[in-house]
Amino acid sequence: MTDHLLGEEARVLRPDGWWRSAVVYQIYPRSFQDSDGDGIGDIPGITSRLDYLAELGVDVIWLSPVYRSPQCDNGYDISDYRDVDPLFGTLADLETLIAAAHERGIRLVMDLVVNHTSDEHPWFIESRDPASPKRDWYFWRPARPGAEPGAAGSEPNDRPAAFAPSAWTYDPVSGEYYLGIFSPGQPDLNWENPEVRQAVYAMMRWWVDRGVDGFRMDVINLISKPIGFTTDALDPSGVEPTYEGGSGPRLDEFLAEMNREVRLDDLNLLTVGEMPGSTVETAIRATDPGRHELNMVFTFEHVMLDRVPGGQRWDLVDLPLPVLKNNLAHWQLGLADVGWNSLYFDNHDQARAVSRFGDDSPEHRVASAKTLATVLHLHKGTPYVYQGEELGMTNAPFTTIEQYRDISALNVYAAATAGGVPTERVMHFLETRSRDHARTPMQWDATDAAGFTTATPWIEVNPNYPTINAAAASEDADSVFAHFQKLIALRHDNAVVREGRFELLLPEHDRLWAFTRTLDDERLLVLANCSSRPADLPLEDLPDHVDAELLLGTHLNGRPDSLAPWESRILRLDQS
Ligand code: NOJ
Repeated sequence: MTDHLLGEEARVLRPDGWWRSAVVYQIYPRSFQDSDGDGIGDIPGITSRLDYLAELGVDVIWLSPVYRSPQCDNGYDISDYRDVDPLFGTLADLETLIAAAHERGIRLVMDLVVNHTSDEHPWFIESRDPASPKRDWYFWRPARPGAEPGAAGSEPNDRPAAFAPSAWTYDPVSGEYYLGIFSPGQPDLNWENPEVRQAVYAMMRWWVDRGVDGFRMDVINLISKPIGFTTDALDPSGVEPTYEGGSGPRLDEFLAEMNREVRLDDLNLLTVGEMPGSTVETAIRATDPGRHELNMVFTFEHVMLDRVPGGQRWDLVDLPLPVLKNNLAHWQLGLADVGWNSLYFDNHDQARAVSRFGDDSPEHRVASAKTLATVLHLHKGTPYVYQGEELGMTNAPFTTIEQYRDISALNVYAAATAGGVPTERVMHFLETRSRDHARTPMQWDATDAAGFTTATPWIEVNPNYPTINAAAASEDADSVFAHFQKLIALRHDNAVVREGRFELLLPEHDRLWAFTRTLDDERLLVLANCSSRPADLPLEDLPDHVDAELLLGTHLNGRPDSLAPWESRILRLDQS
């Protein structure tokens, strides 16, 4: 137990608003480092790699779920919130990790998955009995009127689940259906019931007492159910609710109550709410410090821009640069005065940024990974680095469905092929967007299985590990890793990077991403060529930067009027 981190001392470690200058590193434990030779990453493996994170310079670890879980969605289905799954180690291992991270000045944020539990959680098992006091802790509904319970098409309504054809699963024990917006293994908790909320808050306090520094809150917008999920009625707009959008009417109330009851703000804990469907307006409400809800949210707008609105998941469209950069700029302006942004391209649910937004060919991979990082880290907000992003790790070259592991990939494949969608089309979707691209093992070195495990890994290692790995990066002063180190240091050392006002330049330019950051009399100019061809700089439309100091650049080009493919520069403008 990390006694020295409890109570007052823990608070000293967490000064007010510390998360505004922090860079967070996300660890997906299953794929980070295996220590016991079972092919699955674990907590002692993470502890053994802390010096790597300290060298990178990050301030916080966000640990994806390590709780006890049947693992139907790799831990986002929790059966015991107060224990560690034996796959990952023990509670004592986690306490050791927290203490070892703190010794290095790195804080640790837990993933909080409380929109739903596992169907093996004791709360859910108890609630299957219609007479149980926990019946109302979940959403139980009879078959639709006149329909035969359990028969095909008898579900209470037609809402699909994220990873299954229906959001409703029939339970023969109680003769009713329960709601699982994600999958049958992930029944939704009923937050309308105050006992549920108090049980969650008590669990959160228990983790705070164990020294954790905050929570990343999984699909927290869904704790207040969008109208139409639990009933047949739709909201007046007639729009069907989906797991990707919106929230119900009590979200802000629940978040404020949680903040109060767990003393999230009093204790200066980091809180980031994952909120698919959030808009600038909902984010302002949730992150306005005066309302004491959350520090920041993860929006999904910029990672959904290549989807056909209202289309199937496999319907993708090209994403022109102006659409992407204007979206980020919209959030920068929207949250300029109230609230706070989180900044991410990569996480465990997204394809690799360098393959998606950059150019992962051998010629341009390094430069495009660096330039995407430059652009993201120079926005205002808290940047999130997902494991391997700092190495420029790429999508996996999987060609058959057997290589995929993710419940989502397997469900998309099954649904598409059952619906007659050509296999090539759905495979193309998986090859470019599957969540499994982010989940291939961390590439540590050029030895077998990339140094991740001595066994067969649970998912194939990307075959490019002999060249793309942490050991090679540490010997190369120009590596993507070295560039991330510099970006993180730049943020730590410069108030203008943390707090400067953002202004987008050249909003319609289809290859250049350019903006300024201004704080008092300091001004930075960021210029990035987001294409694999050289780009002329329209000097007449940019602030004069011919004599500006180069704070960080990706190339030795030095030409004031053009950028090489995927070149970026961070310049300090002379304000005298
Ligand atoms: C969002 C998580 O990031 C994702 O991995 C998970 O599948 C769903 N929420 C359900 O918990």
